[in-house]
Amino acid sequence: MRTYIGYLSCFLLLLCGCSSRPTSVSSPDGHIALTFALDEAGNMSYAVTVNGADFILPSPMGFEGRDGVNLAEGFRVENTEFASKDEAWTQPWGENKNLRNHYNEMAVHLKNAAETRLVARFRVFDDGLGFRYEYEVPDADSLFIMNELTGFRIANDGTSWSIPASFETYELLYRTQPISRIDNANTPMTFKTEDGVYASIHEAALTDFPEMTLKHTEGCSFVAELAPWPDGVKARFEGGKFTTPWRTIQIAPQAVGLINSALILNLNEPCALEGDLSWIRPMKYVGIWWGMHLGVETWAMDDRHGATTANAKRHIDFAAANNIEAVMFEGWNEGWESWGGMQTFDYTKPYADFDMDEVVRYANEKGVQIIGHHETGGNILNYERQLDASYKWYADYGVHSVKTGYAGGLPNGHNHHGQYNVRHYRRVVQTAAKYQTTIDAHEPIKDTGIRRTYPNMMTREGARGMEWNGWSEGNPPEHHVLLPFTRLLGGPMDYTPGTFDILYDRTRNSPRRKKWNDLDQGNSRVNTTLAKQIANWVVLYSPLQMASDLIENYEGHPAFQFFRDFDADCDWSEALQGEPGEFIAVVRRAKDKYFLGATTNAEARNLTIPLSFLEEGKTYQAVIYADGEDADWETNPTSYEIVKREVTSADTLDVKMAKGGGQAVTFLPL
Ligand code: NOJ
Ligand code: CA
Repeated sequence: MRTYIGYLSCFLLLLCGCSSRPTSVSSPDGHIALTFALDEAGNMSYAVTVNGADFILPSPMGFEGRDGVNLAEGFRVENTEFASKDEAWTQPWGENKNLRNHYNEMAVHLKNAAETRLVARFRVFDDGLGFRYEYEVPDADSLFIMNELTGFRIANDGTSWSIPASFETYELLYRTQPISRIDNANTPMTFKTEDGVYASIHEAALTDFPEMTLKHTEGCSFVAELAPWPDGVKARFEGGKFTTPWRTIQIAPQAVGLINSALILNLNEPCALEGDLSWIRPMKYVGIWWGMHLGVETWAMDDRHGATTANAKRHIDFAAANNIEAVMFEGWNEGWESWGGMQTFDYTKPYADFDMDEVVRYANEKGVQIIGHHETGGNILNYERQLDASYKWYADYGVHSVKTGYAGGLPNGHNHHGQYNVRHYRRVVQTAAKYQTTIDAHEPIKDTGIRRTYPNMMTREGARGMEWNGWSEGNPPEHHVLLPFTRLLGGPMDYTPGTFDILYDRTRNSPRRKKWNDLDQGNSRVNTTLAKQIANWVVLYSPLQMASDLIENYEGHPAFQFFRDFDADCDWSEALQGEPGEFIAVVRRAKDKYFLGATTNAEARNLTIPLSFLEEGKTYQAVIYADGEDADWETNPTSYEIVKREVTSADTLDVKMAKGGGQAVTFLPL
């Protein structure tokens, strides 16, 4: 584990005289430099160099206001403050519990003819940069943002990995394309320039603003495009002040450097929750879930209802017997008949065949936690009416973890990613915290690191997860080696890996199976090998990590030992090797165990991994879950082998992965 000795925080304050000459700030190691400038009309711009070479060409800054409020032009610099910080901080859970926040800051204080005051605050780290706008408009009762002008003029073309911009969903397939060919993209938008710099544009601390997407303008240039309110306004504020989320660019010499960066967390506010936080705990879980997606069970109460008391107990038994902390039940509450219609779910009324008292009693007896579920269908008005009561209701039962969902359109013309719904998501996290409850949000707003401020905001979906394999053409083999370099740069994802019945042999021809999703062509399957499913438990980080298959597919399966041994509460992680869309290898340490996950796209691949991350002088038993000799995601996905070896930190592991395959290793100290 990397620790930083002591706590070092030093602030230097240098006040510069009024000037519109360009001012610059560099990363602590000096290799990234950011320059701020004003033109003669008082328009702002910033530019970035990496190792002395142009990386972001002078790019516009500011916003378009309304009602004569000028947020972009006629600025002059009043003064510029420089500061530095180097501090160690810890979080209750995360890929890494011990982190370092090390940056140089430049805060440019500006004012324009209309007396609009602005602090343009830039922070430059060794692994990238962030900047935000802090506006103050005197005598304004309210402010309306009509557009963001922030540009990202990338100096060189290169290869990019992103999903299209959409203000409704992130459940889209990734595209690999030249930077100059991107029409629009959601963030994190990751790219590698022709001169070999890896970078990703995103945002941090999105709690009261619409999400930012990127719209192509010309060449390799983009402008921020914000999700609108129904009346076209992008953001609105009471009073005359607002501070934006950080606009961020992670920068690294290697692709894995983006994953090993804590820049997004460092740009979030420290923990806002007070007191003992031991109620916030990473957990492994199983649930009544996959049966519905496969079409053999239903959410609504009928003769194929999944969430019955008996089935709940069966899952609790399974969790208790397999070292799994929690179970999640979907379809337990009234209202699923209205899913896709009025979306009138009731969050305190269990279905008649789900005896909540008995399920809770039984779970307590077995020492298993319950993860609750609130599907809203997008009807957030209905949800907000019940919000406090529903979290209290669960908490009174001892349920302190809830999965939420927004599968459906929002009311009154709102979209999923606008400021209105960003505020809703934050309200849910804050209400949950009041009842010591953690959140796993599906159809969420994108992750921008707010888990630092609200560590009960544990995990979320926000990309195509496992469910897509149940009823569509599924997620292609490159999807899982794109997610770590894109979506997961924002934070953890509840992908819910772990399908062992890859071809759905148990359910495909079951008389209970009924098509329920229009995308279902009857040929869905999981597009990986079995070993890759196991490796994804390590690679696709989530503090709530689900073994998502039907539990009967795990019963008696030798490879399920990996999940039994696995610990979702890791202390330290490192992405060791990888290229976006091609392959990845990640190691995590939890207490004295290490877990390694390596995965590949549709190409077979061998990796050589030095085990130097293991504690020196100790011997470990490595339990290797590998693709079988004849494994191939298309033709022979379930061929696997388990090999045991004694290893030390001086050894090297040869990781052989089949097409669409992977490998997972548990290192147990002897
Ligand atoms: C979509 C979620 O991603 C999935 O996990 C859930 O089962 C359904 N909505 C129903 O809530
Ligand atoms: Ca979803």
